[in-house]
Amino acid sequence: MLNGKKIVLGVTGGIAAYKAATLCSRLVQKGADVHVIMTDSAKQFITELTLQTLTRNVVYSDTFDEREPSVVSHIHLADMADLVLVAPATANVIAKMAHGMADDMLSTTLLATTAPVMIAPAMNVHMYDHPAVQHNMRLLVDRGTLMIEPSEGQLACGYVGKGRLEEPETIVEVVEQFFESKEAAKQGLNQPVSLLKGKKVVVTAGGTIERIDPVRYITNDSSGKMGFAIAAAARDLGAEVTLVMGSTQVQPPANVDVIRVQSAQDMYEAVSRHWGHADIVVKAAAVADYRPKEVFEEKMKKKGDTLSLELVKNIDILETLGKQKSHQFLIGFAAETHSVEMYAREKLERKNCDLIVANDVARPGIGFGADTNAVHIYDRKGLVEELQVMSKEDIAHRLLVIAAERIAGRN
Ligand code: PMT
Repeated sequence: MLNGKKIVLGVTGGIAAYKAATLCSRLVQKGADVHVIMTDSAKQFITELTLQTLTRNVVYSDTFDEREPSVVSHIHLADMADLVLVAPATANVIAKMAHGMADDMLSTTLLATTAPVMIAPAMNVHMYDHPAVQHNMRLLVDRGTLMIEPSEGQLACGYVGKGRLEEPETIVEVVEQFFESKEAAKQGLNQPVSLLKGKKVVVTAGGTIERIDPVRYITNDSSGKMGFAIAAAARDLGAEVTLVMGSTQVQPPANVDVIRVQSAQDMYEAVSRHWGHADIVVKAAAVADYRPKEVFEEKMKKKGDTLSLELVKNIDILETLGKQKSHQFLIGFAAETHSVEMYAREKLERKNCDLIVANDVARPGIGFGADTNAVHIYDRKGLVEELQVMSKEDIAHRLLVIAAERIAGRN
């Protein structure tokens, strides 16, 4: 997968920079053509000569040290890259990337490139948790930067916690998966795919809106991107798609039947109308578990210092469908912030799903709002597949291929 791939590797100044040597070595062993850019701080931890020897390529660090007169180095590197990987990525380079700063060789290249960018942060646990760093990472993820989260453990600064650069072997695996899924998506687009030809697929997307009064409501952060990606992937695989969408931040895909709804009850009624004929139902929507007991017909007036709203339980659409299931292949999602596997598998059982897609929405770049996701797909027997950080389109495609194969297996 990495054979001949041009990877521009940005190495920034943290103690984990020493792991860049192993990372370079592993990438080169896999056939990648690695071009390193070091920041001045990185050179305090590891030498240019080490990385040059391992990659057999010139190592760059000074924007003005133009070694090849026929090109402008940072533009040349930006243009040639199939992937720009920053590992380790310090809080400083993350902040520079988030705010478009370009004051050295690495940051100018990052700003000039149109290639996919992947970062592997590494820093002290409190720096990692700092709202500024978290905010900057969210900005990057929302712009499509792929994130390889740090792992937890003993940090060089003496703390134990999250902030350790992911092991070079794992980073290489993520890079390989990235190119694999790109390749698969390319093939999927080039082939007249008919894996779901003749199948009716119902997808829910977005968040529900539970009215309080004519101008106020309860909702959530779902952008609709995950559900839309599933609807588009099902369409591209030849299915007839009905998309039931609540509140979203992006436009639905073309050539699918769109039903717009607001509340959980509306969504339930819309899905129910299509349930009988559906072959696959995917519940990617974030449905409110509760709604206000009373919906005021006129705008509520401000009274007193506190206000209590009484909420009542909404119908659980997925659980209700699970109880009525006959031939349908039912896929649920589980958005969790802790004990992800346990809660997801409990939902799979209780809601009688064929598959459940668990996303750890506490991780930046995963779940709500982002263009990327990382999921574990479970069936009753356990883990079916783990999909590391990748575009929601790639996740959607893989999920539907698994569903199609299982349906074919049943028949
Ligand atoms: O829309 P994006 O910004 O792209 O974000 C994607 C996502 C995070 C919303 C998506 O990946 C996701 O996880 N969707 C499910 C969110 C959710 O409501 O999870 P849950 O764990 O609360 O619910 C479990 C399952 O039951 C879901 O399939 C949900 O649709 C369904 N459910 C929940 C409550 C309810 N009353 N009725 C339901 O059908």
